[in-house]
Amino acid sequence: MTEAAPRKYPITYRAGSHEVTLRQMTPGDKAGLLEFARALPEHDLLFLRRDISQEPAIDDWISELKSGEIVTILAVEGVRIVGYATIHRSLLRWTAHVAELRVMVAESARGLGLGRVLTQEAFANALAMGIEKMVAQMTLDQKGAIATFEGLGFRPEALLRDQVKDRAGNTHDLLVLSHEVAKFESQRAAYGVSQAFGF
Ligand SMILES: CC(C)(COP(=O)(O)OP(=O)(O)OC[C@H]1O[C@@H](n2cnc3c(N)ncnc32)[C@H](O)[C@@H]1OP(=O)(O)O)[C@@H](O)C(=O)NCCC(=O)NCCS
Repeated sequence: MTEAAPRKYPITYRAGSHEVTLRQMTPGDKAGLLEFARALPEHDLLFLRRDISQEPAIDDWISELKSGEIVTILAVEGVRIVGYATIHRSLLRWTAHVAELRVMVAESARGLGLGRVLTQEAFANALAMGIEKMVAQMTLDQKGAIATFEGLGFRPEALLRDQVKDRAGNTHDLLVLSHEVAKFESQRAAYGVSQAFGF
């Protein structure tokens, strides 16, 4: 598969009165990310590999950023982080064409199109990294997130029963959705989104 050119940042995104800058995460974003994560509803953290409201988890995230295992695009409004998209690539040779996508938007900034824009950015980066397939996982009761991802062309691939347990000890089913990167790019071009965001 042909790899696209690496993305250039920062990019400015406007939604109503909000002006949001998209840029790559750096180690200096640790405090801002902790603040962002600690303001999220606990339920939104359940699909993550780690509890990002805790400092050691952010340290691990930064290490993986440095090693290239992870690429994270942040959405920043003023000095406040309001969202992120992370591409977590597999280090195994036989699954090196697959990456996991994780998108999170601050509760106060939802419904502005940021989730969509961050997902588009993640796909553009994935294409540049030679990734062919993206998977995303979320608990089955995250109806909004499922609707968002299905709207972007993701399709359910697996349902893992009682896969996650919250702090109260309740289990939740985890839904795995997937999307082919090249297909996402062609859909995006077909809908004219490329021109709208200056890609
Ligand atoms: C999923 C999430 C990232 C969406 O972010 P967002 O910025 O609110 O999404 P957008 O405003 O870009 O909306 C994208 C699309 O989904 C739709 N959508 C958003 N929230 C929705 C909801 N609750 N119900 C139905 N559709 C919804 C929007 O209408 C939009 O579709 P459109 O462009 O055709 O109008 C956000 O809700 C979130 O952070 N959730 C918690 C974390 C999570 O579960 N992440 C998913 C796992 S990777």
